[in-house]
Amino acid sequence: MEKEKPVGVFDSGIGGLTVVKRIASVLPNESIVYFGDTARVPYGSKSNETVIEYSIQNAKLLLKKNVKAIVVACNTASSVAIPVLRDMFSVPVIGMIEPGSKMALRATRNGHVGIIGTRATVSNRAYSREIHQHNKDIKVIEQACPLFVPLAEEGWHESDAAALIAKAYLSPLREEHIDTLVLGCTHYPLLANVIQRTIGEEVLLIDSGIAAAEIVREELDRIGLMSNSNAMGRMDFYVSDIPSTFAKVAALFLEREIKQVTKVDLDYLQSLHG
Ligand code: DGL
Repeated sequence: MEKEKPVGVFDSGIGGLTVVKRIASVLPNESIVYFGDTARVPYGSKSNETVIEYSIQNAKLLLKKNVKAIVVACNTASSVAIPVLRDMFSVPVIGMIEPGSKMALRATRNGHVGIIGTRATVSNRAYSREIHQHNKDIKVIEQACPLFVPLAEEGWHESDAAALIAKAYLSPLREEHIDTLVLGCTHYPLLANVIQRTIGEEVLLIDSGIAAAEIVREELDRIGLMSNSNAMGRMDFYVSDIPSTFAKVAALFLEREIKQVTKVDLDYLQSLHG
């Protein structure tokens, strides 16, 4: 049955599990197949060509698992690969940039919006371009925060180091008097507390994963492919390498036990090129 096919989600690694968590809470009956490209992470410091090529391979892998839609949980991949994937594949392809931007546009009152993400996401200016397509008058200030990813993966959410680094990254945004800040990277929701304290309680944080989960629901509804099942959806996990800390970090991201993770052979993945 078409409707009972899983939703495919991919990310450069395990960070996309923050998005899986959001989808599972909005759509608990949908099954999810997750692919984390743990052998080739990070994407945030790679060229657009490489990220596009990897994204095509990841999408093809998910389609081989019979998915009915593809969610690009990685903001970096979303910032460059969405048009290519939409051209190549007939299933709906949902990225992080459009949903996060839409939510920010709805939320801002003073028209000053901050975006934080990887170096690649920020240098692609994907959020600025998307926001300006809808409203040219919004002032968008983008800031790369590359050290947030390792801090989140180390579980150093509440450390003094996190507070110091957040202060250094977020001070320029404070000076611009933003009232809305988009967490434009899979890992940043894990640092939401320190980010909120640093930027100020009056600034609204936008979790692109929450925004995207809502769009997945709307899209499945629109194409008539929402699951009819009353049971909790299955979750199947695939990775291109199994780091020793995978189970621990994944449990932290998902706040749930992960029983089985299957390794995908890298040569096979690379054979699925564009
Ligand atoms: N998943 C990436 C993102 O959301 C962060 C990690 C990486 O650089 O690959 O942009």
